[in-house]
Amino acid sequence: MADHRFRPVSGEKPCCDISKKARICLCVVFGLLVVVIIAVVVGIVMWRQPPQHQEWKGAGTTAHFYEIILGRCYTYTQIVRPELGHKDCQKIGKAFTNAFLSKDPCGSTEQDYQPLMELTNQTVPCDKTLLWSKTNELVHEYAWVQRELFTLENTLLGYMADGLRWCGDLGSSEMNYQSCPDRRKDCSNNSVSVFWNTVSKRFAEDACGVVHVLLNGSVHNTFDERSTFARVEVFNLHPEKVHTLQAWVMQDIRNISSDSCSDASIKNLKLILSKRNITFTCENNYRPIRFLQCVKYPEHSSCRSKI
Ligand SMILES: *[C@@H]1O[C@H](CO)[C@@H](O)[C@H](O)[C@H]1NC(C)=O
Ligand SMILES: *[C@@H]1O[C@H](CO)[C@@H](O)[C@H](O)[C@H]1NC(C)=O
Ligand SMILES: *[C@@H]1O[C@H](CO)[C@@H](O)[C@H](O)[C@H]1NC(C)=O
Ligand SMILES: *[C@@H]1O[C@H](CO)[C@@H](O)[C@H](O)[C@H]1NC(C)=O
Ligand SMILES: *[C@@H]1O[C@H](CO)[C@@H](O)[C@H](O)[C@H]1NC(C)=O
Repeated sequence: MADHRFRPVSGEKPCCDISKKARICLCVVFGLLVVVIIAVVVGIVMWRQPPQHQEWKGAGTTAHFYEIILGRCYTYTQIVRPELGHKDCQKIGKAFTNAFLSKDPCGSTEQDYQPLMELTNQTVPCDKTLLWSKTNELVHEYAWVQRELFTLENTLLGYMADGLRWCGDLGSSEMNYQSCPDRRKDCSNNSVSVFWNTVSKRFAEDACGVVHVLLNGSVHNTFDERSTFARVEVFNLHPEKVHTLQAWVMQDIRNISSDSCSDASIKNLKLILSKRNITFTCENNYRPIRFLQCVKYPEHSSCRSKI
C-alpha cells in the first residue's frame, strides 16, 4: 500500500512534465538572449557616444564629495559648534549639490549658492573675524589655539568645503569626477571659485568691530591685489560696522627681513582702506603668533630670548 502511494504517477504525466520543463528552459534561454541583445546594443551605443562629461584642465570632484560635506556638516553642528545643532544637514547637503549639478560649471553664479547661504547663516561675534592671505597654515594653527577667533574655515560653510573640489555638467545630473574647470586655464566663473567668492563676501559683510588679517611678510606682494582678501573681502567690509582693520604681518622665522608693514603693497592696502573710511593698523611679527612659529624652530635665535 505505502509503496503504491510513492510510485511515479501515471503514464501520461512524465511526458507532460518534460514538456513543461522544456517550456521553462525555452523561456529562460529566450529571456537570456533578449538580455544579451539589449546589453550588446546598449554597450555599442554607449561606446560610440562621446564622453558623458565635458573635459576640463583641472582635477575632478573630490571622491565621496557628498559623504564628506554631509559628515563635516554633522561634525561641525554637533561637535565643533553645538549651538548650531538645529541646522538641517540633509537640507544643507542637498542645497550645496543643487547649486552646481546639471549646470554649466563655467557659468556659476552667486544666485546658484543663495539657497545654501540662507541655510547656513551664522553669527560671528564682533572683533573675532580673522581674515588671511598667503598664510593658510599659520592662520589655522593660530585659530586652533585662539578658539574664539573665526577664519572663514571656522564657519560652517568654510569648514564643509575646505580643500574640496566639485563641479557638475550641463548634460548630466551627476558630479564630474573626471575633471573640473581650472580657474586660470578654463574659466574664472567656475563652481568652486564662485563659491569661495560668495562665502568670502558674506563673511566680510557680516564682520563688525575690529577685523584682523594675517598676512605673509616673506612673499614679494604681501597684499596681493589678485587675492580673495584684496578682491572680495576688503571691499565688502562695512565701514559703519568695521572701524578698524588690523594687519599682523608674519615673516618666516628662518628668513626675517626688514619692516614688512612699510612695504609698498601694505601702503596700497592702507590707501584703499582710508578711502573706505576704515582705520588701518599694522604690526610686524605679532608676538603670540611668533610663539607658534617658534614651536617648530625652538633653537632659532629669534626664539631663544626670554619669554
Ligand atoms: C538665520 O536666518 C534666519 C532667517 O532669516 C533667522 O531667523 C536666524 O536668526 C538667522 N540665524 C543666525 C545665526 O543669524
Ligand atoms: C609665506 O609664503 C611662503 C610661500 O608660499 C610660505 O612658504 C610660507 O610658509 C608663508 N609664511 C607664512 C608665515 O605663512
Ligand atoms: C563672470 O561673472 C561675472 C558676473 O557674475 C561677469 O561679469 C563676467 O563676465 C563673467 N566672466 C566670465 C569669464 O564668464
Ligand atoms: C627669504 O625671503 C625672500 C623673499 O622675501 C626670498 O627671496 C628668499 O629666498 C628667502 N630666503 C630663505 C632662506 O628662505
Ligand atoms: C567717509 O567719511 C567722510 C566724513 O566722515 C564722508 O564725507 C565720506 O562720504 C565717507 N566716505 C565713504 C566712502 O563712506
